[in-house]
Amino acid sequence: MQPHGNSASPSLRADQTQFYDTGVLPGAPVSWRLPYVIPGPDYYPARVIRFEDVSVTYRGGVQALRGLDLTIEDGEFVVIVGLSGAGKSTLLRALNGLVPATDGSITVGGVEVVGASAAELRALRAQIGMIFQTFNLVNRTSVLNNVLMGRLGSVPAWRSTIGLWPADDRERAMQALERVGIVEKAYVRAANLSGGQQQRVGIARALVQEPSVMLADEPVASLDPVTSRQVMGDLRRINRDLGITTIVNLHYLDLAREFGSRLIGLRDGELVFDGNIADVDDDTFMEIYGRAIGDDDLVGTGDDPT
Ligand SMILES: Nc1ncnc2c1ncn2[C@@H]1O[C@H](COP(=O)(O)OP(=O)(O)OP(=O)(O)O)[C@@H](O)[C@H]1O
Ligand SMILES: [Mg+2]
Repeated sequence: MQPHGNSASPSLRADQTQFYDTGVLPGAPVSWRLPYVIPGPDYYPARVIRFEDVSVTYRGGVQALRGLDLTIEDGEFVVIVGLSGAGKSTLLRALNGLVPATDGSITVGGVEVVGASAAELRALRAQIGMIFQTFNLVNRTSVLNNVLMGRLGSVPAWRSTIGLWPADDRERAMQALERVGIVEKAYVRAANLSGGQQQRVGIARALVQEPSVMLADEPVASLDPVTSRQVMGDLRRINRDLGITTIVNLHYLDLAREFGSRLIGLRDGELVFDGNIADVDDDTFMEIYGRAIGDDDLVGTGDDPT
């Protein structure tokens, strides 16, 4: 059968329109048996990410990104550092279309984000997992339900509203929890987890989307040093195991050094460093920050007596 149904993005190539999982609601009266179609993982493969001469000016005139040129290859693990206000969050938001670039071009897998239609942005975001500093969980529901919310982009809304998650989605959610080591917490309310466990739920929720890109905006800023390292370790392992392109905004330079491979430095909305973490020394960080590096820029080990 020919792929059909979702013509969300006219700019997709023919080989990007594969679908899996068509079917009907089991047990429904015949008259209800509307077919549904869920886009498969190859539907919108986000391969190379390319920023070309991208500027973002917010209303009010703040220029948060200035003429950014950047290419991120499929499967890379990239850490972005820069002072508060340097434009790190804006870069991630522009990439998933939450903030419109005022100039230039951003492509994900060859598909243009700047000026994309609402349907195109939906298709794009289905392929991009987001991880937040404050976790953004629904505290009063179970860990499993929180993770299943990552499937919302792929499951018709009415199914999730009535709690009818397909069995293979539940299976995927349990696998994602296993990958971050908290499968035994599946039926615990999210509110009852530690911060590090909550962030792992956030990662699992992003994983069940089966994204090709993960964006993490300061994912460990609310965590202690030990937990921060565990969560960064999870992100890096997932990147290596699953080949998901991962971009992490980090505040702490020691973590950037420990976990990064490619480092991007932003200063005042401009790209001021792009290179291998192995080539980064304190002088590099001073150049990116425009000042000396202090204790506040390091997460530390967590076992200082002070
Ligand atoms: N919605 C907005 N409206 C207006 N200006 C904004 C908005 N969001 C961010 N800015 C401004 O754009 C600039 C870049 O902000 P951005 O949040 O991208 O920086 P950041 O590097 O993520 O900083 P932080 O480390 O504090 O999170 C800052 O000057 C900020 O004040
Ligand atoms: Mg930010």
